[in-house]
Amino acid sequence: MKTSEVRERYIKFFEASPRDHKQIKPAPLVLPEDPTTLFTSAGMQPLVPYLLGEEHPKGKRLVNSQPSIRMQDIEEVGDNRHTTFFEMLGNWSLGDYFKDEQLAWFYEFLTSEIGLTKDRLWISVFEGGGQVPKDIESAEIWKKIGIKESRIGYYSAKKNWWSRNGTPSKMPIGDIGGPDSEVFYDFGEELKLHENSPYAKQKCHMNCDCGRFLEIGNSVFMQYKKVAEGKLEELPNMNVDFGGGLERITAASIDSPDVFEIDVMKDIIDGLEKITGKSYQEKKNIVPFRIISDHLRAATFLANDGVLPSNKQHGYILRRLIRRSAVKLRDMEGSIHENAFDKAIDKVFDSYEDHYLDLKNRQNVKKVLSDELKRFTNTLEKGLREIKKIDTIDARKAFDLYQSYGFPLEITAEIFSERGQAIDINRFQKEFEKHKEASRSTSAGVFKGGLADESEETIRFHTATHLLQAALRKVLGENVIQKGQNISGQRSRFDFNYPKKLTENELNKVESLINEIVEKNLPVKKKLMKRTEAERTGAIHAFGEKYGEEVSVYYVGKTLESAFSREFCGGPHVSRTSQVGRVKIKKQDKIGANTVRIYLVFDN
Ligand code: SER
Repeated sequence: MKTSEVRERYIKFFEASPRDHKQIKPAPLVLPEDPTTLFTSAGMQPLVPYLLGEEHPKGKRLVNSQPSIRMQDIEEVGDNRHTTFFEMLGNWSLGDYFKDEQLAWFYEFLTSEIGLTKDRLWISVFEGGGQVPKDIESAEIWKKIGIKESRIGYYSAKKNWWSRNGTPSKMPIGDIGGPDSEVFYDFGEELKLHENSPYAKQKCHMNCDCGRFLEIGNSVFMQYKKVAEGKLEELPNMNVDFGGGLERITAASIDSPDVFEIDVMKDIIDGLEKITGKSYQEKKNIVPFRIISDHLRAATFLANDGVLPSNKQHGYILRRLIRRSAVKLRDMEGSIHENAFDKAIDKVFDSYEDHYLDLKNRQNVKKVLSDELKRFTNTLEKGLREIKKIDTIDARKAFDLYQSYGFPLEITAEIFSERGQAIDINRFQKEFEKHKEASRSTSAGVFKGGLADESEETIRFHTATHLLQAALRKVLGENVIQKGQNISGQRSRFDFNYPKKLTENELNKVESLINEIVEKNLPVKKKLMKRTEAERTGAIHAFGEKYGEEVSVYYVGKTLESAFSREFCGGPHVSRTSQVGRVKIKKQDKIGANTVRIYLVFDN
């Protein structure tokens, strides 16, 4: 089956009666207000308030497929089943159905909808521990469904407890979690995958990580909240939080233990094979092809969501993915074919244009990735020559390699570990953080109000700037976001992420959209809201900015839902758009690889 077919079948299956789930929109990859992780890494992340008991507007049964990033798996990428980016099929019961229905439905989905063989399914359940009893109930349900007892195994919290932070002892106070039951698909000993694995001498079992068993789904019984060290309390509701790897289920559907064989990955690899003239079938190319295709898919999604390469946080991860792909391509080819990145990005867009990726962004994404590739390839060869000269790597030298030649620490670590030398990542990181602090302070404040004064003109320009941002997002795509602003009584200066100057036509569209709203004389209103609630409205806010529990959202339009513009903002603003008066774009400048600056003035 194709990936899109598995996704569609899953959602339809859970929407259909008697399951009656409502599909919810997937969250963006960057959840700016969730300080617990850099990226959305599970479908449940945006649902925490509802798992804690709040009512969800769509009801108690929800389903979706959530693009996710798990950077903790990056070291594993290259084997047959780990990727940094993946889609997680998810269904949730918010205090509605529980184990009986969940396990039976997932089983029915796998066997009837996907056609997996019942006798190749293996099941793990929680063996109990602390306050939480052994999950005999789930094991009994699986037996009733028809799974042989010999294929059901009990494991400790390390394997069969799920929270965002791991086992109960690792959960911070307030975190939620519960025991879970995982389903594995068995690709059979005849594949001898575990011959090459560190587990070769052990008796093979579901969790032995040799590659014979592929975990394809996890039903978490989200029932507990940590209230004190060593103390869990039951949540008001017994919830189900199910997550299944779309790529892995698709691999099982084509009877392959290798997720790089499924259509969406194979297409990228095929494209790269054509460009590079190298074959994926050749043993030495397998790992690099897997790494490059995974990393460029993840990078495409990140750039599509507005992340730009930089030396901190999300941007640093994107940089690392791009630069590691470059190093692997260069290793394989001896040089980097200039069209390799574009080809991979095209393949990703072709596979996901109906899901998640906005076609309007295709050229931008290419530009973001190729600019970053250029920045790196300018110094790559010199850096590699420098690396050859280094006998023993240490933190200082690794740091210099990043500063002078753009080698992210992790790439340097990888190159030296291939030579049998380890570097102390923690010590290096401390040095790195010091540097990042210094560069951060120079860019601090870009998201602050940016008003020079509170004169009438300045306030009019402030509202005009909100209209400008909303109009830019409508014309250029929703990944456009403010990078800086400076407003005086004479003009508004607004910086945003975009790789090239706007065309005449785009400028005209933006300008007339603003003036249309000005002429409609829409109300400009402020609403104080809980931060989490405000985020759900889709109001624009700065990535990584610290907001309080309560925020004020300014919106332009009759209602918050139908508003033309919604932004987290402290004000002040005019009260109706006609007070802004007509505006025009005076000029635009490209002020960085990915930043455009626009000057807005009154059109008197
Ligand atoms: N939250 C669980 C997971 O990520 C199940 O959805 O595995």
